[in-house]
Amino acid sequence: MHSILEREIGQLSGGELQRFIIGMTCVQFADIYMFDEPSSYLDVKQRLKAGRMIRSLLEDTEDRTYVICVEHDLSILDYLSDYICCLYGVPGGYGVVTLPMSVRQGINCFLEGFIPSENLRFRDYSLNFKIGEAQVDQSQMDESKYSKESKTIYQYPSMTKTLGPFKIEVEGGAFKPGEIVMMLGQNGTGKTTLIKMLAGILKPDDEELEMPKLTISYKPQTIAPKFQGSVRELLSTKLKDSWNSSIFKTEVLIPLNIEEILDNEVQTLSGGELQRVAIVLSLAKPCDIFLIDEPSAYLDSE
Ligand SMILES: Nc1ncnc2c1ncn2[C@@H]1O[C@H](COP(=O)(O)OP(=O)(O)OP(=O)(O)O)[C@@H](O)[C@H]1O
Ligand SMILES: [Mg+2]
Repeated sequence: MHSILEREIGQLSGGELQRFIIGMTCVQFADIYMFDEPSSYLDVKQRLKAGRMIRSLLEDTEDRTYVICVEHDLSILDYLSDYICCLYGVPGGYGVVTLPMSVRQGINCFLEGFIPSENLRFRDYSLNFKIGEAQVDQSQMDESKYSKESKTIYQYPSMTKTLGPFKIEVEGGAFKPGEIVMMLGQNGTGKTTLIKMLAGILKPDDEELEMPKLTISYKPQTIAPKFQGSVRELLSTKLKDSWNSSIFKTEVLIPLNIEEILDNEVQTLSGGELQRVAIVLSLAKPCDIFLIDEPSAYLDSE
C-alpha cells in the first residue's frame, strides 16, 4: 500500500480499493472476520497476497477467532478455506446452504452439481475445465475472416495521462473491426485510465490529440446504479428497440440468465446480478466499439 498512502480514497483503482478495505478489516480486533468476495478486482498476485493475509488472521489467536468468506475464485477458495458450505437454489428465487464440508469435497460437490450426503442434484450438468481441443495457431488467426474482410483500421495516438503522482504512457496503436483486444496488467497500472481515455471520459494530457471517431458503449469497472425501478423497467427504458427483438432475447437475455431477475428492483440486485445487467446494457447498445472494464468481477464460474 506504500505507493498509495497519500491518495484520496475516492481516486483509488478497483484493486487498490479492495486491498485497502481488506487491510482495514484485518487490522481490527475481532472474533469473527467476514469477507464478501475479497478477490474481485484483484490481479493474480494480489489475490494470493490477500488470501495469505486473511489466513494469517488465524495465527497466534486463541481458538475463538474464525473467518467467514464468500468467494467465486476456486483456486483462492481452495487456498483460503478449511471448510466449505455450498449454496444452491434458484438465482433470484431461493438459496439453500449445505452443511460444512471439507475443502476438496465442497469444491467437488459444487463442480459436480451433486451433494452425495443428501443424494441431491442441484444442477443437471457438471462444470469442468478442459483445455480446448481446437488450438488456433497463429497462421489461422492471420487468415481469420475478420482481418481478411475488414480494411478499416482505427488508430489511437501515443498519449500520456497524469493523475496526481500517477502517470500512464500509452504507445499509439490500432485495431480492426471484429477484433477483441485484452488489456492485462497489475492493479493500479492504468487499465481503467486508458479505457476511460478511449471512451472520451478522460482527456489525455495533450487535450488536442485526436481519438478515433467511434460510437462507444462503455461498461465501467464500478457499477453504482441510480435507477429506481425493476430490471425490466430499466432495460425497456434504455434499450427500446432491442428489448423487443427475439435475437436479443435468445442471444443475450437467456444466456446471461436475466429473465429470472427481470422483476427485481435494480437497487437490490446482488453484485453478480448487477454485473450481468450492466453487461447486457453495454452489449445492447449499437456502437462501433465496446469498452468493457472487468466484466467477470462478482460473477460465479458459470
Ligand atoms: N484522480 C486521480 N488522482 C490521483 N491518482 C489517481 C486518480 N485516478 C486514478 N489514480 C491512480 O492512478 C492509478 C491507475 O488507476 P486505474 O484505475 O487506471 O488502474 P487499473 O489498472 O484500472 O487498476 P485495477 O486493476 O485496480 O482496476 C492508480 O494508482 C490510481 O490510484
Ligand atoms: Mg481498473
